[in-house]
Amino acid sequence: MILFKDNTFRLDTANTTYMFRITKFGHLEHVYYGASLDSEDLAEVLAQKRTAMIGNSVDYDGSDKYYSLDNMCLEWSDNGRGDYRQSPTELKMPDGSFISDFIYDSHDIKDGTIPIKGLPSAYEGDQTLVITLKDTALNVVITLYYTVFKKSDVITRRAVLTNNSPGPLHIRRFMSMMVDFHPEKFNMYTLDGGWIKEAHLNRRNVEQGIIVNSSNTGNSSNRHNPAFMLAEESCTEDHGRVFGFNLIYSGNHQSSVEKNGRDIIRVSTGINPHLFEWELNENESFETPEAVMTFSNKGFNGMSHNMHHFVNNHIVRGQWKNRERPMLFNNWEATFFNFDEGKLLKLAKNAKDLGMELFVLDDGWFGERNSDNAGLGDYNINTKKLPHNLKNFADKIRSMGLEFGLWFEPEMVNPDSNLYREHPEYAIRHPDRQPLLGRNQMVLDLCKKEVRDHIVDNVSRILDESDISYVKWDMNRNIAEAYSPAIKNQGEFYHRYILGLYEILSRIFDKRPNILLESCASGGNRFDLGMLCFSPQIWASDNTDPIERLKIQTGLSYFYPLSTIGSHVSQAPHQQTLRDTPLSTRFNVSGFGCLGYELDLRNLSSEEKKDIANQIEFYKKYRKIYQYGTFSRISTSKANKVVWQCVDEDKNTALTGFFQTLVNTAESDDRLIVKGINMGRYNVRTRPQRLYIGRFGELIKHISPVELKPDGIIMSLANRHFSLADSEESFICSSNALESGIPLSSQFMGTGYNKNLRVLGDFGSYIYITERIDV
Ligand code: GLA
Repeated sequence: MILFKDNTFRLDTANTTYMFRITKFGHLEHVYYGASLDSEDLAEVLAQKRTAMIGNSVDYDGSDKYYSLDNMCLEWSDNGRGDYRQSPTELKMPDGSFISDFIYDSHDIKDGTIPIKGLPSAYEGDQTLVITLKDTALNVVITLYYTVFKKSDVITRRAVLTNNSPGPLHIRRFMSMMVDFHPEKFNMYTLDGGWIKEAHLNRRNVEQGIIVNSSNTGNSSNRHNPAFMLAEESCTEDHGRVFGFNLIYSGNHQSSVEKNGRDIIRVSTGINPHLFEWELNENESFETPEAVMTFSNKGFNGMSHNMHHFVNNHIVRGQWKNRERPMLFNNWEATFFNFDEGKLLKLAKNAKDLGMELFVLDDGWFGERNSDNAGLGDYNINTKKLPHNLKNFADKIRSMGLEFGLWFEPEMVNPDSNLYREHPEYAIRHPDRQPLLGRNQMVLDLCKKEVRDHIVDNVSRILDESDISYVKWDMNRNIAEAYSPAIKNQGEFYHRYILGLYEILSRIFDKRPNILLESCASGGNRFDLGMLCFSPQIWASDNTDPIERLKIQTGLSYFYPLSTIGSHVSQAPHQQTLRDTPLSTRFNVSGFGCLGYELDLRNLSSEEKKDIANQIEFYKKYRKIYQYGTFSRISTSKANKVVWQCVDEDKNTALTGFFQTLVNTAESDDRLIVKGINMGRYNVRTRPQRLYIGRFGELIKHISPVELKPDGIIMSLANRHFSLADSEESFICSSNALESGIPLSSQFMGTGYNKNLRVLGDFGSYIYITERIDV
């Protein structure tokens, strides 16, 4: 699937072809990326035709007036040789100049993948193309790696720079990949936001100039996720050509899309050059993180299916690869820091009775951690809250039949902690400046070996002593004052921090493969492929409001499979938005991910308990489809609807989530559309859910035989002990009918209530189960 013929490289995946060639002067010229080509398709037909001289450009070589690097589609480019677009490098070469000219020297095609030293990378690729480029004047080499993941339709790229000259080379910019696309009208899509509003999808036209998508907070960030797409203008969820990109990296990243005056579009991605500088001495090499590229001509969903397959099969590894995730209870939103053993055991007992499988003890279990002011760094049990030891508490949880998981924030320290009092030098700060705090805490200096050793020893000891089977690894502030006395060149700080983090994670978790790691950074401040190489799932956001989660999880779903997205049912009204949403919707949204509950189970009414027990039973029955089925976003023409769908591997069962944000009065009829299932006959039914009479407020008096006061005791008791069955629909039809859409029952619109009305109102939702009956 990697071929080299007539100076042309051709990389084929199941449905795509990537082609480039070596020019007569040794540069790599990009030829084609798109749907699979015929074996007869030739580079000379597909490549850019250079038959005009372009005014005021610089000729690369006097022998060819049509060969100007600035006007070519390239796979890699330099500075100082006539290409004025953004180069993937900015190198102060050993001769002190910024001029380089890397041209083809040799190549090799190898089976499988070649791992990167110190950085996580994708595994079990099919073949890797290794191309060596040499500078024409100095003894400096760049090696480009292209790995093909055939079934995922993914190609990864990375680069290694080696200085074989006696003088030092300074890297100011060295991207993982670069490619120039032929002129085309593209839109660029990115995932942007901030704390509690992560991963909102944004679209902008690619016009002449440069669009930059980057982070400089020390992590991949909730501001701009490293993943992005370029899609032809008319692209929809199911039709059109889309290129998807991502980076296997958790630190500062940068991607740029540049359209030049002749509409050629240059894409590059890699480590953010901002505040970056790396010194490379004789015989030293620098390896970039691995960039990920995919193409689909089946719209955004097609691109997502490729990325999901890639993450599930080539990023997530170890014992949790393709394994169903446990259903967890987390005490954070139920108790915050205010708990004791008795309270936790009651919550655990409730969680077990409702069908949950894992109890996660979140922040506040250690040191003087009674608020976020103190205690971070002191991972010794807080005996006022848990009077015995952690093992004793963990055993009590396990004896109830639950697994036990624990929260840590190992990269941080509170100044008010024993760790800081004993080792103030462990925290990042500049010696001559006032230290900066965020959430009352400082970041530990992972560039220092003694700090890394301390974290590894401390966390490992607790994991082993109490036989922990799940860890939530948190990181709650951004880095500032990037400075470490452990390194000579401060331009290396951010990258060395991330290398330090990866080393720590490997040292702790490689030896303990049974532990399920869920990473978190104030929610999704580090939701990236680098972290997914260690943690099979990531807490997507501190925002658990289901209506906000529709935006967050939709955004993430473009690049990350549902098996990686932590999503929990929490209290309503919601702690951040005050939005009051039905319990059914909180579950219906959270089910599309790794489900958990994070609310005070002790306060649930008997109706809510029954409801939650049914939700959990339903989720367990369909968990594999939710987490590993083929996920698609179903387009709807209505702005107040979101529709998600998961189809099982055999394509005989589908789950559809139908969500309404703000109701329109007298809503027009809705349709249920199911796609991607086998031809055949299907039974479709609504997941049974409850309608709480409190939802109707004073309106209830219109149907009640006795007069009820809306805030009276009878209403309040009725709401706790009585609920209505929500509308259920059930029908049989063909896959073709489902693909075109089946009209659903009318929505409630104030003209009376009957059991065939879908009561959606604001924030209502239903799950529809579609199951094949003719097999
Ligand atoms: C962060 C996490 C939350 C919770 C708290 C605990 O905000 O995102 O889920 O663990 O820390 O302090």
